Amino acid sequence: MKTKAEIPDATDALIAYFDDFWEGVDDKKLSPFVPELEDVVRNILAARKQGDFPKWFEVLRSLPDLQVSEVHLDHDAITIKGEGEIYDELRAMRPWRKGPFSLFGTQIKSEWRCSMKWDRLIPHLPTLQNKRILDIGCGNGYYLMRMAAQKPKVLLGVEPVLLFLMQFLAVEKFAKTNAHILPIGVDDLPDEMNTFDLVFSMGVLYHRRDPIGHLVHIKKLLTYGGLLVLETLIIDGEVNECLIPEDRYAQMRNVWFLPSVKMMLVMLKRAGFKKVECVSVEVTTLDEQRATDWTFTQSLSDYLTPDGSKTVEGHPPPKRAIFKAFRGPKM
Ligand SMILES: C[S@@+](CC[C@H](N)C(=O)[O-])C[C@H]1O[C@@H](n2cnc3c(N)ncnc32)[C@H](O)[C@@H]1O
Repeated sequence: MKTKAEIPDATDALIAYFDDFWEGVDDKKLSPFVPELEDVVRNILAARKQGDFPKWFEVLRSLPDLQVSEVHLDHDAITIKGEGEIYDELRAMRPWRKGPFSLFGTQIKSEWRCSMKWDRLIPHLPTLQNKRILDIGCGNGYYLMRMAAQKPKVLLGVEPVLLFLMQFLAVEKFAKTNAHILPIGVDDLPDEMNTFDLVFSMGVLYHRRDPIGHLVHIKKLLTYGGLLVLETLIIDGEVNECLIPEDRYAQMRNVWFLPSVKMMLVMLKRAGFKKVECVSVEVTTLDEQRATDWTFTQSLSDYLTPDGSKTVEGHPPPKRAIFKAFRGPKM
């Protein structure tokens, strides 16, 4: 494998990849924002500390052009079959937090079995066909790829972690779903797009210091009548109860705010959403979040007390809820 110094053009190559993407955008609601988004992506990539990115990019570029015989986006493990194998390249892109994937015979056992969240979500979703969809904090695009099976019109994710983008591009090279991930944070999107029929914000709200600001921004990203699907950590409790961890929560440093379901419903209403409802509440199990040899060595079982009744910091163990909320009609 080449060293970082030998491949200084990784950022330029990624900017060029996005240049091609922008040129191909042909959607009446997204196209007006292309010049602004193009600038944002270019500036963010140019300014970003590279870290291991050139190494991952080189792995991406070294992937062979294997012949694909089958693609299954509707299986629990996103599955691509064909001649040849890419085991070493996939191993070089660890840790795989989201998945699972089955790629040319290699089974990627990711930390999160995302098919379990997808199965909780899918009964509550409208058809995704022909919709414009945004997935905020989309990780390596596992959910975007599951959505792609329904042929949305626009399928866009935003995700600031470049390793996850590299993982996505490695799978997308063969899956050809036509989903795209922008390497930016949600705050880098224009304030008001009025573009998306559906916005997913899953596993993001509790990382936000200003959760209501996040909701208000999403409302303005949605088209009038559009649907927010919000998934977040919650606690048991009444309308005025929430948890603001003094320090870490389940070893995560950046957890700010865990509301009760009742408080979350009020927050959505105060942010201006209509027809708000909670459609699922589930305790995260050791089956859903676990350490494997494709991930970090520690996972949920290390973040809980031995009997699983509390996090190691003494907080309630992770419980996650899914909410639906609509942007109202244009007044
Ligand atoms: C807990 S993970 C959830 C991933 C996925 N949405 C899911 O539900 O499994 C949170 C993701 O949000 C990303 N993220 C963090 N800050 C973000 C921001 N400001 N804008 C967009 N994504 C962000 C993280 O890098 C991470 O991939």
